[in-house]
Amino acid sequence: MRVLVTGHQGYLGTVMVPLLTAAGHEVTGLDIGYYADCVLGELPAAEPPALDVDLRTVTADQLAGFDAVIHLAALSNDPLGALAPQITYDINYHASVRLAELAKQAGVQRFLYASTCSVYGAAGEGLVGEDAPMNPLTPYAESKVRVEGDLAAMADASFTPVFLRNATAFGFSPRLRADIVLNNLVGHAVLTGQVKVLSDGTPWRPLVHALDIAEAFAVCLTAPAEVVSARAYNIGDEANNLTVADIAADVVATVPGSALLITGETGADPRSYRVDFSRARTELGFQAKWTVAAGAAELFREYTARGLTTEDFTDRFTRLARLKALTADGALDGELRRVPVGA
Ligand SMILES: NC(=O)c1ccc[n+]([C@@H]2O[C@H](COP(=O)([O-])OP(=O)(O)OC[C@H]3O[C@@H](n4cnc5c(N)ncnc54)[C@H](O)[C@@H]3O)[C@@H](O)[C@H]2O)c1
Repeated sequence: MRVLVTGHQGYLGTVMVPLLTAAGHEVTGLDIGYYADCVLGELPAAEPPALDVDLRTVTADQLAGFDAVIHLAALSNDPLGALAPQITYDINYHASVRLAELAKQAGVQRFLYASTCSVYGAAGEGLVGEDAPMNPLTPYAESKVRVEGDLAAMADASFTPVFLRNATAFGFSPRLRADIVLNNLVGHAVLTGQVKVLSDGTPWRPLVHALDIAEAFAVCLTAPAEVVSARAYNIGDEANNLTVADIAADVVATVPGSALLITGETGADPRSYRVDFSRARTELGFQAKWTVAAGAAELFREYTARGLTTEDFTDRFTRLARLKALTADGALDGELRRVPVGA
């Protein structure tokens, strides 16, 4: 299939594109490039051809000829959403719905949307399935809920939107993210010897490896439209529903000489949810493969081999810090639009 992957230069896109290409798809990227040069070590594969544009200005012409769009581009976590709620709504909500409308207009038949399990918010101890009430607690999660609603209303015989509600990702990607829990804890352990948990360690977090997410998208590209149209799928595995303290224990067991420190300084975290992933197994035959312990071992190996530094960890690979630096340097304006060189 001819597939457009938005956000292909992000953490997930960078591992997804080679997987899709290896599966025989013809991939084109679309990215504004916020993190294009935030690479730890070498990129393993050549970058695909790409549209070097802001999602907010994409045109229907640019979307013609694709069979499917995989929409990853976003301000992609809660801290970014809290920094700039209005920009989060503009990019994550308005520009996403506009992209889907233009794609449908251009004849694109399938639209796979990267949603999140954080749409469930504070869900308590029971397992939440896709039909559980959504309770988004942040602008980031709220924008994901709104997009799902608007896209569901666009579904028809010519247009198949699918919502992949991914658990929190972990695992190595050359375009690393330090601001997701496992990647962060392993990084701190490698750099300081401490596995430092700022909350009280009790919140539940469902986790999933970046490669498992990539595989789930690949499965959804070719799944029967009558099964997946306007359908949400939680992507992850019940075995990786862990408390933050459990995740930290896996890290201590992986990084030699590291010690656990639970400071509790940020207090109790209301975002806590345990997720039921059975729908994707039953309807798509999708089974996540990576355990958190295997992911911790992979991260330890890659960080060590590629010479992770504290500066990179706290600046280049932390999305909020990176966007603040680009804005301070004048490369981005106050709405995170690119400022032309020389302007
Ligand atoms: N990583 C996770 O834990 C996780 C979990 C659940 C859902 N998701 C979702 O998956 C998607 C990808 O996540 P990620 O971790 O790779 O994020 P990321 O921040 O690493 O990558 C996002 C990419 O989108 C691009 N982008 C942002 N705004 C843009 C714009 N206006 N125009 C063009 N490109 C733009 C960025 O340059 C970046 O390359 C996001 O939608 C995210 O919400 C991620």
